Amino acid sequence: MKKLIAGNWKMNCGIAEGVVLAQEISYELDKSYEEFVDVAIIPPFLDIKPVRGVLDFDKRKNISVGAQNVYFKENGAYTGEISVSMISEAGADFCIVGHSERRNLLGETNADVNDKVKALLDYSGKVITPIICVGETLDIRDEGSYIDFVEKQVVSALAGVDLFDGKRVVVAYEPIWAIGTGRTATPEEASEVCLAIKTKLTELFGENVASDIRVLYGGSMNEGNAESLLSVPGIDGGLIGGASLKAGSFIQIIKVAYNCR
Ligand code: PGA
Repeated sequence: MKKLIAGNWKMNCGIAEGVVLAQEISYELDKSYEEFVDVAIIPPFLDIKPVRGVLDFDKRKNISVGAQNVYFKENGAYTGEISVSMISEAGADFCIVGHSERRNLLGETNADVNDKVKALLDYSGKVITPIICVGETLDIRDEGSYIDFVEKQVVSALAGVDLFDGKRVVVAYEPIWAIGTGRTATPEEASEVCLAIKTKLTELFGENVASDIRVLYGGSMNEGNAESLLSVPGIDGGLIGGASLKAGSFIQIIKVAYNCR
């Protein structure tokens, strides 16, 4: 499967900084990687449109843009929220849903995640692919029930979802204990859970659909450990936080993904 390398900038880079970083990535990226690796930049909301503009200007490269969150209602009195049509108009092709920072710091529940996934998939405009984040805490890992926990997150995120007409999702396995901590899951640990997610997706949607749902690993992935993570079974790419904020590191990870094809 074609790998996906997505850079989650989180709450970093205002518009000016974001435009410069996107320009660097676009300029330095080797076009030949495109055949085997999809690349996405997922900046803060305000950067989506200007980053999209920078990338469109450099027509030689095919880099997607995403949003880090969305609200499930179409419009109305929801102060501070942003709808699917708004991120679409700004130029988003992907949208992260249920990132652990939102679940933990902002109280996002499995039901919220499910509403957002459905809103994205039901949108009748340009396709915006949800990147559904799942992952366990250190306590759950140590206690041993992490596969069960992650499978339940996948099932509830996709409750009532029908993947038809080529509409797809991406699932990102991001063990919370590995995010921004410098502690990465070993390739074996990451592979075990990503394969379990694929088995669950096959149960839910059948082999035909599940076989083109990409499962990413995220959590302290960088240019040093990307090769070992991207070459194990079950991992179809990476959701990169810290290492996506430097053009050189991000591009190096994309190159590793290309070499792991
Ligand atoms: P990290 O973040 O690479 O900085 O650990 C990954 C993520 O949270 O998506």
